[in-house]
Amino acid sequence: MAGRIPQTFIDELIARADIVEIVGSRVPLKKAGREYKACCPFHDEKTASFWVSPDKQFYHCFGCGAHGTALGFLMQYEQLPFPEAVEELAGRLGLEVPHEGGGPAPARAQEDLTELLGRVAGYYQENLAGNERARAYLRGRGLDAAIVERYRIGYAPDAWNEVLRRFGATDESRRALSATGLIIERDTPRPGSEPWYDRFRDRIMFPIRDPRGRVLGFGGRVLEGGEPKYLNSPETVLFHKGQELYGLHEIRLARTSLKRLVFVEGYMDVVRLHQAGAAYAVATLGTATTPEHLKRAFRLVSEVVFAFDGDRAGRAAAWRALQNALPEAREGRELRFLFLPEGEDPDSLVGREGREAFETRLERAMPLSEYLAAQLLLQADVSHADGRAKFVALARPLLAKLPQGVYLELLLARVAQEVGLGAERLRELLSSDLAAAPDASGDADHPELARGRGARLRRGAARGGGAGRRGLVTQAIQTLLHFPAIAASVPAAVYPALADISEAELGGIDTLRSLLEALRAQPRRTTSQLLEEWRERPEHRRLGELHAERILLDGTQAGAELLGILDRLIGQVDAERQAKRYDELLRKVDSGSASAEERMEFQSLNRRPGTRPS
Ligand code: UTP
Ligand code: MN
Repeated sequence: MAGRIPQTFIDELIARADIVEIVGSRVPLKKAGREYKACCPFHDEKTASFWVSPDKQFYHCFGCGAHGTALGFLMQYEQLPFPEAVEELAGRLGLEVPHEGGGPAPARAQEDLTELLGRVAGYYQENLAGNERARAYLRGRGLDAAIVERYRIGYAPDAWNEVLRRFGATDESRRALSATGLIIERDTPRPGSEPWYDRFRDRIMFPIRDPRGRVLGFGGRVLEGGEPKYLNSPETVLFHKGQELYGLHEIRLARTSLKRLVFVEGYMDVVRLHQAGAAYAVATLGTATTPEHLKRAFRLVSEVVFAFDGDRAGRAAAWRALQNALPEAREGRELRFLFLPEGEDPDSLVGREGREAFETRLERAMPLSEYLAAQLLLQADVSHADGRAKFVALARPLLAKLPQGVYLELLLARVAQEVGLGAERLRELLSSDLAAAPDASGDADHPELARGRGARLRRGAARGGGAGRRGLVTQAIQTLLHFPAIAASVPAAVYPALADISEAELGGIDTLRSLLEALRAQPRRTTSQLLEEWRERPEHRRLGELHAERILLDGTQAGAELLGILDRLIGQVDAERQAKRYDELLRKVDSGSASAEERMEFQSLNRRPGTRPS
């Protein structure tokens, strides 16, 4: 975070924010006189003791004592550290967060990088204007000048070092270009020529922007045939594919109120839908939909529809999306799936049928519960007992991903219906796997001790953080499976850091480590050889699936991608350890049992941003 956020700005934020809207988009509120009430989201209760006052712009729970402003609510509910909650609220109101004085260097450096990427985007745009072949291509794809402008689509010239020459005059600027992935260092420098070259050459360029419009990276499409069809910026300090949604900025500019978001697969789908008047589509960036993507989406809307391509890859992506959506499925959120006709994508469909027909299809999209049941029914024949047992076994890991709540109840009921069991009986059968239901046991005199805020916060943090990190491990494993040779490019220094992480802290890390080590020992091994060796291990099937999925990287990007992922993964585990330590110390300080040393450590953690869990 760059510098301190001025208090005057925070005051202004609180003054402008509408707490009823902020809380109401997350918790179902009922009007009660001048105020609103709900069952408290911070402790389990059956009668509403959580009040929101529009006059005071304040919430208060008479049950557990939770209280605060819109900002405090975001921190507590979304598990956001203070600066991020400020960003979030400001983003919603369309305000830029000012920072006083010089902040720590990394954040300022990031600002500089997005600024650089913005200038390069402008350069690509100018280039497009001067290149008839590129403009003809876009016309041929049915895009008009206004939409090309709105998405800042450009063209990277057919040259090896135009970006390098224009934006990389100094060592420092070359380092910046390389950090954004715009230039690549040659493996074998040629005498007399630059050791760097442009990543993007002769491609239509789609800038990827954050919700406030800052350029984070690019996707570049070939004009004619060529591989890969889309080349994307690698995972960098700015660009986290598992979080960013292409098109979010553009559609937020276009609309004041957004009711739903449609997740599509491609850049062209987003742009073409927008041009057709359907300004509510976003695309994940050549990666599977992650729980992080959905968290982002659900901060803005309460309904998400997945509209993936009508081919095998699209259907596989939908199933994967369902699995990653489950942790985010909860009351008040709607998740649906639109299956397009074989061979179509949203771009081609809206081109042929127009917006209204597309929207009619959207209205009829399948609810998540139906899709899940239908998918399981394909795999298990419930007309006999064995099949029903299989159905339950297949449902078990999926239901286990859901947080406790109405949505889980709904899915339980749906599964129970298929296998002809009562929902209660099914819950019993699955009890060891499901998120804990509100239970009546516990310490009756001290309900807040038994199911207190601390425990809830930690559970929330573990859940949210866990899902995101598991995503990174999976990404790393998948990248390795597709490009086993890149294991050699992992620097030795990374191994001790990985060795230090336990499977309990980070599910899948053992597998990742074994893979890396196996490949380090025998670098020439192919993935099939590797998978053969894994045949008897329980992970074998999952590895096979990951290998079978299409991956949107080419060999030149894969090494950098893997390093970026490992780097983030190690950083996240570290942050989580600090948060845990903070918790531990907080308890000691609270109970008065902290030593002088521990109190000092606590204070130092307190000053470090991002450590405090709420
Ligand atoms: P598609 O192959 O479905 O392409 O990839 P598309 O969006 O329909 O593209 P057009 O219509 O042929 O131009 C969907 C998305 O997957 C990523 C891109 O984000 C693309 O928009 N992708 C695809 C890659 O990153 N690399 C590739 O080589 C292909
Ligand atoms: Mn397409």
